[in-house]
Amino acid sequence: MVKICCIGAGYVGGPTMAMIAYKCPDIQVVVVDISVPRINAWNSDRLPIFEPGLDEVVKSCRNTNLFFSSDVESHIADSDIIFVSVNTPTKTRGLGAGKAADLTYWESAARMIADVAKSDKIVVEKSTVPVKTAEAIEKILNHSSRDGVNFQILSNPEFLAEGTAIDDLTNPDRVLIGGRQTPEGQKAVAALKGVYAKWVPEDRIITTNLWSAELSKLAANAILAQRISSINAMSALCEATGANVSEVAYAVGKDTRIGPKFLNASVGFGGSCFQKDILNLVYICECNGLTEVANYWRQVVQINDYQKLRFVNRVVSSMFNTVSGKKILVLGFAFKKDTGDTRETPAIDICLGLLGDKAKLSIYDPQVSEDQIRRDLTTSKFDWDHPQHLVPSSPTAKSKEMVTVTWDAYEAAKGAHGICIMTEWDEFKFLDYQRIYDGMEKPAFVFDGRNVVNPDELRKIGFIVYSIGKPLDAWMKDLPAAPLT
Ligand code: NAD
Ligand code: UGA
Repeated sequence: MVKICCIGAGYVGGPTMAMIAYKCPDIQVVVVDISVPRINAWNSDRLPIFEPGLDEVVKSCRNTNLFFSSDVESHIADSDIIFVSVNTPTKTRGLGAGKAADLTYWESAARMIADVAKSDKIVVEKSTVPVKTAEAIEKILNHSSRDGVNFQILSNPEFLAEGTAIDDLTNPDRVLIGGRQTPEGQKAVAALKGVYAKWVPEDRIITTNLWSAELSKLAANAILAQRISSINAMSALCEATGANVSEVAYAVGKDTRIGPKFLNASVGFGGSCFQKDILNLVYICECNGLTEVANYWRQVVQINDYQKLRFVNRVVSSMFNTVSGKKILVLGFAFKKDTGDTRETPAIDICLGLLGDKAKLSIYDPQVSEDQIRRDLTTSKFDWDHPQHLVPSSPTAKSKEMVTVTWDAYEAAKGAHGICIMTEWDEFKFLDYQRIYDGMEKPAFVFDGRNVVNPDELRKIGFIVYSIGKPLDAWMKDLPAAPLT
C-alpha cells in the first residue's frame, strides 16, 4: 500500500489529503501537524475549519485510510510520498521584511524529513513558495540526510479557493506537477500523476519543469488579484462618473477573451494568499534586478489598500465627517462567504479605520467567533500567519466598550447609525432591513462593500445607501470620494 504523509494540517493540507484518501481507498494518508489542538480538532466532530462538504468527505474515510496525528516524525519515516503544506508567511523582520516569504516552517519540515528518513522519498511542495525553493530544499535534504537515501522534489501547488475547496478538489481546472527533467525526476512525476489520475482526467494533469510549476502558482494568484484590483480601480471611476460597475463588469466580461469570472468589485480582496504571494513576487523581481516589473505588481496591492481606505473615507465623510461615538454595525468579518477564515480580511482594515475615528463597532459574522475578531483587531500586520505563541500580545486590545461582537444581526443593529457590509454572506441579502431600519438612529446609512443588497429597495425604506462602484446617492455626490494622500 502506498503511504502518503502530509506535514501541515491547515486549510490546504486537511482538505487536500482528505480528498486523496476519499478518491484513493488503496492509499494510506496521514496528516501531521505540530499543533496538537489542530490535530485533535481534525479527529473530533468539530473540524478546525468550516468548508462546505468537508465534514462528509473527512468522516467517510477518517480512521479507515485517512489519519490525523501529531506524531510527525514516525509518520514521515514511514511514508513514500511526503507533501509539505506548512505556512509560508510574509517575513516580518530581517532581509526582505514585509515582502519576502518566510521559509522558516518549510526549512524545519525539510530538516525533520532529512533527520528521520531511512528510505527514498518523494517530497512534494504543496505550500506556495518562491520560485527556486526546490533548489534550497534539495540542498537541505541532500546535505543532512543519511547516506544512500535519495529524495526527489516535486512542485505540486494547490489552486483551491476557500469556501469552494471540496468542489475545486473534486473537479480541478488543472493539477500542476513540476519535477526535475531527469529519469528519476520523471519517475517521481509519474508516481504523483498516478495518484491524481484516480479521479482527475489526464488532460487536466499538467507536467512542467520545477521552476515553471513554482512560478505558475505565484503568477496565477497575481493575475487573479490583478483582475480584482482592475475592477476595483474602475469602481472608483464609476462612482465619479455615474457608470455602474456591475454593468461595466458584465459588458467587459462578455468578451470571451476576458471572461466573466473574478470581476466583482469589492471593498478589497483579502485572504491568506493574494497579498502575501504578490509581495513575494515583488521581492523576487527586485532580487532579479527587475525594478519595473516589481513596481507593476506592487501596484495591485496598492490599489487594494486604496480601495479599503476609500471605503472608510466614504463612511466617515457621509456621516458628517465623523463617526466618533457613533455605533456602526459591521455585517460579516470573514474574508469571503462560506468560510470562517479571517486572515487578511478587508474587514480588519475597515474596522481599524473606523475605530481610528472613534466609532463604536458592533460586529456580526455567522462563522467567526468573538475571540478571533478581538485577536485579529490587535494583531500586527503580517503576524497573523505565525503560531500564536510566537506572536506577542498587543497592549492595544480594543476595549469591550468600543467593540462588541454578537450572534444576532437584529440585536446588533439597535441604535446603530450605520451598517457596513464586509462579507457577501447569502443571509445578508435576506435580512429584514425594514426591521433593522426601525431600530436605527436617523439618518440611517448602509455602506455595502460587497454589493449584496439592492440599493433601490433600501432607499425606499429610507436608508442612505453606498454601493461600491454604483451611481451615488444624492447625499454623497458632492462629498470627497478618495482620501487625500
Ligand atoms: P495553515 O496555516 O492553515 O496551515 C499550515 C499548518 O502547518 C499549520 O497548522 C501549522 O501548525 C503547520 N506547521 C507549520 N510548521 C510545521 C512543521 N514544521 N511541522 C508540522 N506542521 C507544521 O496554512 P494553509 O492556509 O493551509 O496554507 C498552507 C500553504 O498553502 C501556504 O503556503 C499557502 O500559501 C498555500 N495555499 C493556501 C491556500 C488557501 O486557500 N488557504 C490555497 C492554495 C495554497
Ligand atoms: C485564492 C485563489 O482563488 C485560489 O486559486 C488560490 O489557490 C488561493 O487564493 C491561494 O493560493 O491561497 P482564496 O484566497 O481562498 O483563493 O479566495 P478567492 O475566492 O480567490 O477570494 C480572495 C479574495 O478576493 C476574497 O476576499 C474575495 O472576496 C475577493 N474577490 C474575489 C473579490 O473581491 N472579487 C472577485 O471578483 C473575486
